[in-house]
Amino acid sequence: MQSLVTPSTIVKLIILTLQLQLTIPTSALSPCKTSCGNIAINYPFGLEDGCGAPQFRHMFNCTSDLFFTTPSGAYKVQSIDYDKKMMVVYDPAMSTCSILQPHHDFVMTDIQSVIIPPSQDTVFALLNCSIDSPVLNHYKNLCFNFSGHSCDELYGACNAFRVFHLLTNSSPPCCFTGYDTVKFMSMNILDCTHYTTVINTDNLKGVGPLDWVYGIKLSFTVADTGCERCAQSGGTCGFDTETEGLVCLCSTSVNSTRECGKDYLKLSERKVERNNIIHVVHITNTWFVFFSTLLCVSAAGSVVAEGLNHAPRLPFQLFLLILWTFLCMSL
Ligand SMILES: *[C@@H]1O[C@H](CO)[C@@H](O)[C@H](O)[C@H]1NC(C)=O
Ligand SMILES: *[C@@H]1O[C@H](CO)[C@@H](O)[C@H](O)[C@H]1NC(C)=O
Ligand SMILES: *[C@@H]1O[C@H](CO)[C@@H](O)[C@H](O)[C@H]1NC(C)=O
Ligand SMILES: *[C@@H]1O[C@H](CO)[C@@H](O)[C@H](O)[C@H]1NC(C)=O
Repeated sequence: MQSLVTPSTIVKLIILTLQLQLTIPTSALSPCKTSCGNIAINYPFGLEDGCGAPQFRHMFNCTSDLFFTTPSGAYKVQSIDYDKKMMVVYDPAMSTCSILQPHHDFVMTDIQSVIIPPSQDTVFALLNCSIDSPVLNHYKNLCFNFSGHSCDELYGACNAFRVFHLLTNSSPPCCFTGYDTVKFMSMNILDCTHYTTVINTDNLKGVGPLDWVYGIKLSFTVADTGCERCAQSGGTCGFDTETEGLVCLCSTSVNSTRECGKDYLKLSERKVERNNIIHVVHITNTWFVFFSTLLCVSAAGSVVAEGLNHAPRLPFQLFLLILWTFLCMSL
């Protein structure tokens, strides 16, 4: 009887193993975009519907740059710090020390105000307020002393704000306040014609307005929905677009409720690497599998050869072949 383990069978099996290894990595890559421009997109954020956490659904769009959308406009995302859970956005229509622009409100949805509100070290400077402004009267306790800085300093140091000074020949009132003030009162109610926002205000004592950083720092919270387990299994956290329940996206063709299968476990470390490194890991992996298979095959071959001399031939050979195939495939 002819041996089942012919050289051509071995070659076929090696090729099969290699093909399996070659097809898994491409399909295991995330179905969600992982960056926009130079900004990394990770959980809880996502660009495509169904990626990231459902709470942040429809808030981002990537048109060459990453934009964060609120009811008052699209704000350019400058940076995202996933460790500190902070995102810095910039309103291109906002006034700063160097440019004066018509005022508009900064408005967030109710959900946004809860899950991604401006941080404590973001100060809203309300400028050119009328003397009837609520923040100068009934609500004057909403204005705080911002590292010893005054309105005069702002009106004096900034080209953009000097105009307020000139027209009235005296400093119109201003108010340094937090997000809660503008959340509950629109600029019309506040009766101030302009505003600007400054971030990282904890260390601005003695630093002039020309050197302040203008923008809005948002502090986001990530609900614990079991995403970690999915991420550790090599998946990307997403959600079902109808039920908004967590879905672990394992590949473009495989979704799972909690975590990805064993095959994807081995690939998990690739996901954090950049694309070019993925290739290196991929190739190393392929060779590893190739040599392991070769070893496995030759070991099995000798066992089978041994079996030929002793045991009843066909059942024993079949048993070994099945065992060996399982061993080789599980590599
Ligand atoms: C996408 O961003 C642009 C800014 O380039 C903005 O004008 C637009 O409204 C945004 N679209 C959506 C659907 O949020
Ligand atoms: C400042 O506010 C006053 C009203 O309080 C307004 O008439 C004036 O136009 C404002 N200045 C600028 C430069 O908008
Ligand atoms: C704010 O700080 C400045 C400088 O430290 C001080 O002169 C001023 O009185 C303070 N204003 C208030 C309202 O505390
Ligand atoms: C996996 O989930 C995503 C997001 O909900 C969906 O777009 C995709 O069609 C799903 N794929 C499969 C194979 O179910």
